[in-house]
Amino acid sequence: MLGLRRAFAALLSLPRAGSPPAAAMSTLLISQERYAWLRELGLQEENPGVYNGRWGGRGQVVTTYCPANNEPIASVRQGNLEDYEETVKKAKEAWKVWADIPAPKRGEIVRQIGDALRQKIKVLGSLVSLEMGKIFVEGVGEVQEYVDVCDYAVGLSRMIGGPILPSERPGHALIEQWNPVGLVGVITAFNFPVAVYGWNSAIAMICGNACLWKGAPTTSLVSVAVTKIIAKVLEDNKLPGAICSLVCGGADIGTAMARDERMDLLSFTGSTKVGKQVALMVQERFGECVVTCSYFNFSKVFEDADLNLVIPSALFAAVGTAGQRCTTARRLFLHESIHDEVVAKLAKAYAQVRIGDPWDSDTLYGPLHTKEAVKMFLDAVEQAKQQGGSVVCGGKVINRPGNYVEPTIVTGLPHNAPIVHTETFAPILYVLKFKEEEEVFAWNNEVKQGLSSSIFTKDLGRIFRWLGPKGSDCGIVNVNIPTSGAEIGGAFGGEKHTGGGRESGSDSWKLYMRRST
Ligand code: UN1
Repeated sequence: MLGLRRAFAALLSLPRAGSPPAAAMSTLLISQERYAWLRELGLQEENPGVYNGRWGGRGQVVTTYCPANNEPIASVRQGNLEDYEETVKKAKEAWKVWADIPAPKRGEIVRQIGDALRQKIKVLGSLVSLEMGKIFVEGVGEVQEYVDVCDYAVGLSRMIGGPILPSERPGHALIEQWNPVGLVGVITAFNFPVAVYGWNSAIAMICGNACLWKGAPTTSLVSVAVTKIIAKVLEDNKLPGAICSLVCGGADIGTAMARDERMDLLSFTGSTKVGKQVALMVQERFGECVVTCSYFNFSKVFEDADLNLVIPSALFAAVGTAGQRCTTARRLFLHESIHDEVVAKLAKAYAQVRIGDPWDSDTLYGPLHTKEAVKMFLDAVEQAKQQGGSVVCGGKVINRPGNYVEPTIVTGLPHNAPIVHTETFAPILYVLKFKEEEEVFAWNNEVKQGLSSSIFTKDLGRIFRWLGPKGSDCGIVNVNIPTSGAEIGGAFGGEKHTGGGRESGSDSWKLYMRRST
């Protein structure tokens, strides 16, 4: 992520991702010569979307579209509830084999998965760019996150352990042993179709769990391509493929996973609305879940901040991935003494953002994922205007094929305007004025979500107040860096309506295990 931040900072050229898009055509992109590279991922015109040691699927066929031109790429036959049932049974059987393998040996398998991903990093990154719409370096970047978390998990596979505590009874041992939970369901969103599954599955695997993955339907080809890479490693090692099962599907499969008592842990990433439904369904059966929902990340810039850090950071956090990260900065609080200067500088930086096809080396900003997202963007801009906001730049749809909208800055709204507290997964930054530390810390924490936050200041006392009990109530609390770009080594997740779970690094592994005292 650091490299990309630098790219935003310097607005530098980026490496070329491959072929330019085809002119408008009705045939699938995968059938066209210039997209022949998709075959390197084992993809074809219609792909089975269920894997449990064997590929299949008897559900609906979904076609996925390239957000940069709305051309159909290829299709996936999803799983139906029978496929789901069969896959859960096979995953449970596979778990019996996997749980018996010593943790460091499980780490060795995860190491091989990381290596297999390394070999396909460019082509898989290109598919992410083509199907999700993020720029090529970001597509590659999220495969890199999966690779990194595999490395992390390999080390962890030799380190996880529990204490032997002093027993009060003579001749007794008091031990805390960590055991795998069993089957881990992973439901991921369109915006990080590779990395979020990677964070969960690499850690869950070394802990001794089997996984069952349902990705977003609009990024089904990525789910299939990633699973093909993992499946080859498992099969080459003569392990049951169902250790890493896949059921592509819609809400029917997601609901089945949430309600299913055999799903020992469910990790969900997505909207707050769906996250709440999932959490309630899991809670109803006393199941365990890790829910990471999104939004409402904030940066606060104090009068002593280094503006050379602030401008590229705000740009990267608000405009990167076209505003579709759960760590995207949505609100920017500026001290009143620097408000106008920062807005002017930021608007100038926005004007230089190179908009284009996500796979072009020059592009820093691509399309939104779907046409619906474009509608939501326009609706939010309209509401912001009605509530008294001024559009400093952007606010419109860009006249070109695909789902492009202008990166947008809105000023003049009060901190508690309804639209400022409403989630829109689009590149709209609400810039707000503040006077005092106390009020801006309170405004930071006044929204329902609590994923990521950042502060720009040189005042050490203020930094420690920000990190402390009365500071930011988010899961990710940054200082002098953007809200987005969280590293895999830390625990990733947030508080309040963000869901409270933690994934990826630090001691998040504990969530994937049960403690036997
Ligand atoms: C997400 O948007 O779902 O902080 C995850 C970041 C990433 C993770 C984002 N590493 O930008």
